[in-house]
Amino acid sequence: MNQLVRLLIFVSIGILAAACSDPDNATEAARPDPFAHLTAEQQEILQQGQARANSCAACHGPQGISRNRMYPSIVGLSESEFKQALLDYRTGERTNPLMSPQARGLSDEDIELLAAYYALLSSG
Ligand code: HEC
Repeated sequence: MNQLVRLLIFVSIGILAAACSDPDNATEAARPDPFAHLTAEQQEILQQGQARANSCAACHGPQGISRNRMYPSIVGLSESEFKQALLDYRTGERTNPLMSPQARGLSDEDIELLAAYYALLSSG
């Protein structure tokens, strides 16, 4: 009898431990980090790009998704399309009274960074 009680306690502790650990696993799985798969270099681009893209967000929306029909969404363009568009605005190949002055303020490094940043957002 004594042994049976001990066995019951042992089993209950086992069930309790399993019950307690399960919700932990469930919360881990329910909140995956969307950028966890990125390399350290990509995380860096994400951080720097976000800071550089603040001024762009005023027109093109946060994450490049525009909420205003006057401005196109800029997420979803390929990295090379994105780069080419900015280079064209900067040289005057492509002109727009709102966008041209924005592009003229960008260095080559800015354009590289922004193109890589928005391409990352598109892929995420
Ligand atoms: C004052 C508003 C404004 C700001 C700020 C702005 N843009 Fe634009 N952008 C526009 C408009 C308007 C267009 C569409 C121009 C056209 O039709 O040629 C455009 C077009 C673009 C395009 C081309 C989209 C396509 O589909 O070809 C890219 C890329 C772009 N912007 C990137 C940027 C980036 C990067 C920044 C920040 C450095 C920025 N823009 C800041 C207004 C803005």
